[in-house]
Amino acid sequence: MSIKVESANITIDEEYLKEERERAKHAYQELLSGDIDMTGWVTLPDEITDEKFDALNKAADKIRSDSDYLIVVGIGGSFLGACTVIDMLDKGRGAKVLFAGHGFDPVELSETLKEAESGDYSVCVISKSGGTAEIISTFGIIRERMLERYGREETAKRTYVITGADGFLSDLAKEEGMVTFGIPDNIGGRYSVFTDGGLLPIAAAGIDIKALVGAAAKAKAEDFNAEDSFDYAVMRQLLAEGTAAADKTPKAAEIYEFCDRKLVMFGEWLKQLFGESEGKEGKGIVPMSLLFSRDLHSMGQFLQQGSPIFYETMIRQDADFDVDFTVPDDVPQPFAGMKMSKIERGMETGVTKAHIDAGTPVITIHFNKLDEESVGELLYWFKVQCAVSVLLLGVDPFNQPGVVAYKSEMRKAL
Ligand code: PA5
Repeated sequence: MSIKVESANITIDEEYLKEERERAKHAYQELLSGDIDMTGWVTLPDEITDEKFDALNKAADKIRSDSDYLIVVGIGGSFLGACTVIDMLDKGRGAKVLFAGHGFDPVELSETLKEAESGDYSVCVISKSGGTAEIISTFGIIRERMLERYGREETAKRTYVITGADGFLSDLAKEEGMVTFGIPDNIGGRYSVFTDGGLLPIAAAGIDIKALVGAAAKAKAEDFNAEDSFDYAVMRQLLAEGTAAADKTPKAAEIYEFCDRKLVMFGEWLKQLFGESEGKEGKGIVPMSLLFSRDLHSMGQFLQQGSPIFYETMIRQDADFDVDFTVPDDVPQPFAGMKMSKIERGMETGVTKAHIDAGTPVITIHFNKLDEESVGELLYWFKVQCAVSVLLLGVDPFNQPGVVAYKSEMRKAL
């Protein structure tokens, strides 16, 4: 296991911690049992066959061979997983993946199309329900443009449909003979990164999906067997109820903090994972995310001295950056001659100490480095911690009645 969890300003009565660890272990066993609805993601990393990897890689090879760009049309769980992994791991070895359909901004769509049309492109539309407004309308617009440029037959060859439902998308795919993949019924959007909907765009970007999923399977086998395996899941609930923080105040918000720009979308993924799993029945911790040091110059004041309603979860890559700079000698001390990475580490150490000294509960989650092995582990680890933590809270981590409500009101409004 490469993930390490540290904490500061968090104190839990020993007996209570023991009880909560037992409850967490029990919740995890429930997840493994398959008795809870929508837990197909738990065993998925063990179940993806070589045939499935071959089919995904074959489609990805075709995209890479005939397209400079792949436009992925999706939103929420049908976009964030792939976008997160690609942002973390893209090394420019595949097609450049562009994302559309995560809103209704025509300016953004026109810029995306302009970029894609500067070369050759394919489209991959992902919608589990097959009917989400942003996805269907955006896909329709892109398809119209492709028909003009490529004609019907070639457009069909350049269109990849990933859906879990009957309806417009699956009917179109059948009629036109498009390549299709699926999303299992028992896996919800925010837990779907290792389904076809996550893996096809990731493979098209030239990322090793077998290594990524292999790392998730390894995490499943190795990361949850120790006494303290679920302490992150436990700590966040006890911080929320007010028993774990040194100042004994209930914490209403969790702030995920990163120092690598490549982790910004991971923050968005975590917000969906925790926000949509936990925020129901009037309960839940508000998930937020910040990028350091950029946001220290805007939110740093609040973090240091503002209302103590939050705790911080710092997510740290232990490996050094792949590239570095040296500050020139004609710059004032202490920076002259210093490696940029050293200044960055100093910032991490300094800000952590300042926030701990201010009394804020700080959880630090370390992972090795941005490669398939660490990222596959990290995604799986957080999904398990989230589901366990939300089960401890006593709400269903796998439904999203609020999203369903908004979608239905929007349809009526239209
Ligand atoms: O997790 C969820 O349920 C949502 O974020 C969905 O993934 C998102 O709304 C897209 O839905 P669909 O894939 O059904 O089009």
